[in-house]
Amino acid sequence: MSTQLNLYEHLANELGALIHSRVLAPGERLPSIRHLAQQKRLSISTVMQALRLMEDRGLIDAKPQAGYYVRHRARMLAVMTDAEQMAEPAFVGINNLLMRVLKANEDKSIVQLGSAWPPDELLPVKRMQKTVASTARRDPGLLSRVSCYDTNEPEFLRQISRRALDWGQLDPNEIVVTGSCTEAISLCLRAVAKPGDTIAIESATYFVLLQLIESLGMKALEIPTHPKTGPSIDAIEVALNAKLIQACLFVPNANNPLGCIMPEENKKRLADLLTQHNVPLIEDDIYGDLCFTPERPWPVKAYDSSGNVLLCSSFSKAVSPAARVGYVVAGRFAQEVALLKMVSSGATSHFFQAVLADFLNCSSYENQVRKMRRVLAQRIARMSDAVCASFPQDCSVSEPQGGFVLWVQMPAQVDALALHDSAIGQGVAFMPGQLFSASGKYRNYLRLNCGNPWGPEVESAVSKLGELVHRQLDQPGGATPVQSGGIALKQVSGIHLSS
Ligand SMILES: Cc1ncc(COP(=O)(O)O)c(C=O)c1O
Repeated sequence: MSTQLNLYEHLANELGALIHSRVLAPGERLPSIRHLAQQKRLSISTVMQALRLMEDRGLIDAKPQAGYYVRHRARMLAVMTDAEQMAEPAFVGINNLLMRVLKANEDKSIVQLGSAWPPDELLPVKRMQKTVASTARRDPGLLSRVSCYDTNEPEFLRQISRRALDWGQLDPNEIVVTGSCTEAISLCLRAVAKPGDTIAIESATYFVLLQLIESLGMKALEIPTHPKTGPSIDAIEVALNAKLIQACLFVPNANNPLGCIMPEENKKRLADLLTQHNVPLIEDDIYGDLCFTPERPWPVKAYDSSGNVLLCSSFSKAVSPAARVGYVVAGRFAQEVALLKMVSSGATSHFFQAVLADFLNCSSYENQVRKMRRVLAQRIARMSDAVCASFPQDCSVSEPQGGFVLWVQMPAQVDALALHDSAIGQGVAFMPGQLFSASGKYRNYLRLNCGNPWGPEVESAVSKLGELVHRQLDQPGGATPVQSGGIALKQVSGIHLSS
């Protein structure tokens, strides 16, 4: 059989087998061309031909001046392109399903690869303990202060504005302190849209954003989203021209679940387009400080000259999920948002605003996010390797550029919800893909929380998941192909993507 193959194909197959058996691991550098030629007694051009073939097979990548590297399977994650589908605006209906999944995931004995909370061990619990005590000693009045009108703590606003200096100047009058990022987004949605309006979202998107849209009686339009560069600006432009959307709700820095970051030129183009069409953007920047890029990526708000962008965030991911302090820089909607905040939940704890202001005022916060970025990038890489080792070959994983979740695409026949039910039976929780779409997409996807420290428990949980996927695929007649969740782009009210 092999006598039919050329020398370069032999070499490509031989190296390919080493990659499949993980002797050569994802991210590892291949021996140099010269070394391979000497070792294998082949010419340089034969080796180069073999490497080109391996590149075409999606096994390796060339890095200029650095050689060839084993590709992480992430690159193969399905990319939504022009030919892909954009569903029509639709009412969302995930609340019941989500409640079912969250209830099943609640069991403490289950290995938690579901909810995306940072593990206690990575949070600055001791430092917060000290800050809580010193703040209470310094200003005991904060423990009883409550204000109906002035709900913001000035020092907290100052720290938020100070942290934004890298990319722009914030007007403290535009800031409304909230009980969480979720509350900030909920208030923004109510300020910029009404029941029946359509909100453009990334596809896939964080299920709580879908829940908010659902609970407010609004519709969602899923914008095709590239796993590396985020939502297609061309598609957004098409939707704006067709007057299909009244607002956008995006997570441009490390989207959950894809982990992608919108390139700066896309952010600028988006801000300009939205200004032109007078359509607001609710920007969820909760993972902005937890991106793995050399520089902290700017928010779209940095390119907003019209007050059209409402920038939301909180300290739930990097400092304390329990403190329940978030904020929104609400641009031209500041007054409406402030009023909605006042009538819906009154002031956010002045005490915890002051505690966070103290925490942000020294090097503690910078040290904390630097540590988290380093550790989380390692844990994601570890999880990604483990998934590639246990799941079937034709699965692909995302390459998150921030945050701490991994998005896994499985063969089309796999039903993530059925997989979830069997996994709970085996003591493993994850988030099934169906929760991340308003239109039934992502039935064969799942999201894994990578924040937990790596150890035998997590390793065995991932391997159990891989086994369950294999088992679903092996079931005779059990494989039901995925139904398309959307309709062809060109059929949607005359929408076409231009490129
Ligand atoms: C994109 C995104 N936004 C918001 C939140 C929730 O933040 P908070 O706890 O401040 O409401 C999460 C949590 O998973 C998230 O992933």
